Amino acid sequence: MKVTASSESLGTLDVDAIAVVVYEGEQAGDLVSIDEMTGGLVGQLLELGEIEGKLHEVTSVPLADGAAAGRLIVVGGGKRDEFDLVKARNVAGVAARQLSKRNITRAALWLRSELDAGGACQFAAEGAVIGPFDLGTYKKKENESRSLEELTVHESDERVEDARAGVERGAIIGEAVNLARRLANEPGNLLPPRVLADEAVKVAGRYGLHVEVLDESQLADMGAGLILGVSLGSAEPPRMIVLTHNGRGEGPPDLALVGKAVTFDTGGISIKPSRGMEEMKMDMSGGAATIAAMSAIAQLNPKINVIGVVPAVENMPSDRAIRPGDVLTAMNGKTVEVLNTDAEGRLILGDAVVHAQKLGAKRIVDAATLTGAVIIALGNHNSAVLGGPQEWVDQVMASGRKAGDRVWQLPIDEEYGEQLKSPIADMSNVGGRAAGTITGAYFIKNFIEDDVSWAHLDIAGTAWTEGESAYLTKGATGVPTRNFVQLALDLAE
Ligand code: BES
Ligand code: MN
Ligand code: ZN
Repeated sequence: MKVTASSESLGTLDVDAIAVVVYEGEQAGDLVSIDEMTGGLVGQLLELGEIEGKLHEVTSVPLADGAAAGRLIVVGGGKRDEFDLVKARNVAGVAARQLSKRNITRAALWLRSELDAGGACQFAAEGAVIGPFDLGTYKKKENESRSLEELTVHESDERVEDARAGVERGAIIGEAVNLARRLANEPGNLLPPRVLADEAVKVAGRYGLHVEVLDESQLADMGAGLILGVSLGSAEPPRMIVLTHNGRGEGPPDLALVGKAVTFDTGGISIKPSRGMEEMKMDMSGGAATIAAMSAIAQLNPKINVIGVVPAVENMPSDRAIRPGDVLTAMNGKTVEVLNTDAEGRLILGDAVVHAQKLGAKRIVDAATLTGAVIIALGNHNSAVLGGPQEWVDQVMASGRKAGDRVWQLPIDEEYGEQLKSPIADMSNVGGRAAGTITGAYFIKNFIEDDVSWAHLDIAGTAWTEGESAYLTKGATGVPTRNFVQLALDLAE
């Protein structure tokens, strides 16, 4: 979608529809120019209480002759003093979805907000790009409906310069979030590790990232026994994708993003119940967000070096699969007793963070749909963050807050590590029912060197949404693409 900002009068803009935000308690007098464009209709609807301005309320109103656009969509913004950047994003998402539903391809949006123009327009552009995202990719009948292609965000003359910078950044981030969603929604048979790697190579080519794809023999040479072990049961070979953005020039990474990509998680020999197993096609959401964030980072070009490391496997049961009780040796020589083959994410991440550290990373953040337990702890609205030192966790929480990608910290005291003790290996891969999200994170911590800052995001509750909302289609959410991008931008400052 092409998003631009303009201060040209809405009455003369060459678009098919105008979306305008109305806040609670507003009257015709607050919206003179809009009211005139509708020949007084908007004023009457406000008077009658048909338009209340409640958050996400939608009213379609015809425009009077003389306006270049054919119709007006009034979107409620809620209470003006509670309107913030995340609401700007969601309201723009609602507007863009409603416009797309009406097959409108070119439209204008007027937020009428007093928020900082750069931020509000960034979030609005993001929402507008994300809102109309369509799932119906594999329907036999060609999808005939059209979706919004061009959006002009209207701002005053004084604000339009900031608005331009904002929409440019927002559109890039929004497209990255959609890329993560598209990848994570993809069925397991159509997106095995090989194909995910091909997608990463395409992204790298398009945006000028350096990319390396390590195949099974290279992984064997490196001694990546955890990744190889997990993928043994699958006919699909594993891959490790490494994307590099050198915004500072040659040299070690200032930041490593690491994302779990289990392209399908059956559980392996410790097989999952069949009910709801289809959702496990999204078990590569962390990897998808990593690739997507790298695509946005390449375009926004922060002056730091960032690597994205994505271990990709399929977790399958078969006669070649690892069994409960098997012992694997990781890339750093540590041994793991695999008590449950369904705790596979932490295994592949163990090797992946070792690889990131071999590449020189001293700051790591990983994202993984790691534990069902995090859904019990935090539900669907916050990802869990765990790690250390605290300053690094604070920074990841701050970037999440700034990007509207919510995270909440859980503790990771040393005592939890004892739950992973094994009588025969350096550690086991499960720590019992208690504190499942913490012991999952602790397993990865066992592969982090003392001088390395590390934060782990458990996104099992946030990467997928069952219900469709006013501004988001059901399925993959793209979490934590936005946080990753914001973190890279913040570190470059
Ligand atoms: N991919 C799952 C976690 C998951 C659960 C993601 C629900 C999204 C929604 C992960 O590989 C897994 O199976 N975890 C196990 C760990 C257990 C065996 C220690 C779990 O959470 O049950
Ligand atoms: Mn699993
Ligand atoms: Zn998994």
